[in-house]
Order: sequence, then structure tokens, then C-alpha cells
Amino acid sequence: MTRKIKKAVFPVAGLGTRFLPATKAVPKEMLTIVDRPVIQLAVDEAREAGIEHLIFVTGRNKGVIEDHFDKQYELEDTLRRRNKMAELAVLEADLPGAGQASFTRQQEPLGLGHAVWCARELVGNEPFALLLPDMFIHASPGCLSQMMNVYNAYGGNVIAVEEVPEDQVYKYGVVGRGETAGAGFHVTSMVEKPKVEDAPSNLIISGRYILQPEIFDLLDKQTAGAGGEIQLTDSMLSLLGQQDFFGLKFEGTTYDCGDKVGFLSANVALGLSRDDISPKFRAALKAILDEKCGL
Ligand code: G1P
Repeated sequence: MTRKIKKAVFPVAGLGTRFLPATKAVPKEMLTIVDRPVIQLAVDEAREAGIEHLIFVTGRNKGVIEDHFDKQYELEDTLRRRNKMAELAVLEADLPGAGQASFTRQQEPLGLGHAVWCARELVGNEPFALLLPDMFIHASPGCLSQMMNVYNAYGGNVIAVEEVPEDQVYKYGVVGRGETAGAGFHVTSMVEKPKVEDAPSNLIISGRYILQPEIFDLLDKQTAGAGGEIQLTDSMLSLLGQQDFFGLKFEGTTYDCGDKVGFLSANVALGLSRDDISPKFRAALKAILDEKCGL
């Protein structure tokens, strides 16, 4: 029997320097893809996969994320009085239940491994999901739901992976592929931001994880790795000696919203797939492409 995954961790302490000046006062996770903040889309994916408790690892100037996941009495009252019931229904559906969102702070930017370690007391001694919100994964069912199928069948730890061109592996964590296990495969090795000649494959870690709590004991002692940061991948590699890790090449498309082109592409892709705006947006986009690109 595998233990049910009830909690998800969202590291949201990053500064978002690549989006200045937009991110001077607004956290990068609150930038929107159409009309939903990037962090909301990650939360949507987690809730679809059955997650009950949301744990945010925030930092300075990120208070608005906490407000976003709270009730807004005045706004809701105004919407009710103006009979804006559709808008109100969206806010009500998105609101986490009382006590189902927790916030802690990463006090220093020491790396992803350190951010995850900061959630150890809130996660406790149970397996958990980890979603890096910058990586927006457009998929149905969602990427974490697809991973849950592997976890429910095999237990252990599960990492979502995807293929990238070989000259891109240096930007990511990379896994080695072993024997097939259902829809997934056994992970044989992991390395963070390798040179292309040291990469075990071109399968990169896509920012979605299901992890056993023993990862925290390893993060406790983890020394700095690639880029001088405490790397989650290094602790996962240590855990790989003790527990099973499965990789899943999920069905879906990833948009790296920490990057301007990825962020704009996510907006176009989601805009084109939204029934409420798609016909008008398609026509507008076509006109822009005709004018600017002669397509
Ligand atoms: C982090 C992880 C890396 C993963 C990547 C996905 O790197 O350390 O293993 O492939 O996220 O976005 P970062 O983007 O924080 O450098």
C-alpha cells in the first residue's frame, strides 16, 4: 500500500530578476497566463491530482501570494451586490479550504534544495508532491495526476521528465533511464546542470516531483553543488541509493514561465485553448502575424 499524497510544496521565493521591472513590486508567480496567475495554475494542477494541503515557501515581498489564496470579503460582497455571480463562483472555487494553505519563508536564497528543506516541519513524516510553478505544464489530465498513477502502482519517488535537444541539458537536472516500469521507468542516475558530455541522457527534470520524507534527512546535510547552491538533485541522487525513483515522460507541453519567450508562448497557447476567448484571439493573432511577419 502506498501512502496517499496529501500535501504539495510550492517554492516561490525566487526574485524574478528576468522580469524586471514587472517584478519590482509584484512577485513573478503572480504574473498571469491569460487571467490566472502562474502560481494559481500550479495549484490547479495539484488540486486536480487530489492534493489537500498547499505549502508555499515564500520570501520577502511575496505577501500578495498569501492574499491571493485568502478570502476577499469586500470584493466578494461587491460582486454579489452587482450580481456578478460567474466571477464570484471563480473566486469561491479557487479558494483553499480553511487551514489548507500554509506559508513559510526561505530566509536566504541558498538554492532549491534549501527551499524544499524549509518546508520540512510543515510536510512532516509523509510523502509529498513538489511543483516548481515557473514550469507551466499544459496537460489534460495534469502532469501531477499522470505521476500519481505511477506512484499508486509502484510507490517510491516519481519525477516528471521530458526530452530536450542535447545542447540544452546544461540548464536542467538530467536523469538516466533504466528499465521500463508501467508508464514510467526506473531512474538510474541524476545530475544537476551537467555538461553535455556528462549528461546520462537528454531527459530533463521538468519541475514536478513526488518525494518520500527521507529526502529531508539528506537535505539536512546537503552541501552546495552546481552554481554554489544546495541542489535538490544531489540529495535525490543520495536517496536513489536507498529507495526507488521512477521517471515519467508525461503527455503535455511545458512552458518555462521564468523565461520571457516561454511566458509569452504560454499565454498564446492557453489563450488559443480557452473557449471564451479563442475565436477572437485567433483572429487577432492572425492579424498581428500577417502585419509583423507577413505570414
Ligand atoms: C530546477 C532544478 C532542475 C530542474 C529545473 C526545472 O533548476 O534544480 O533539476 O530541471 O528546476 O525548471 P532551476 O530552474 O531552479 O535552475
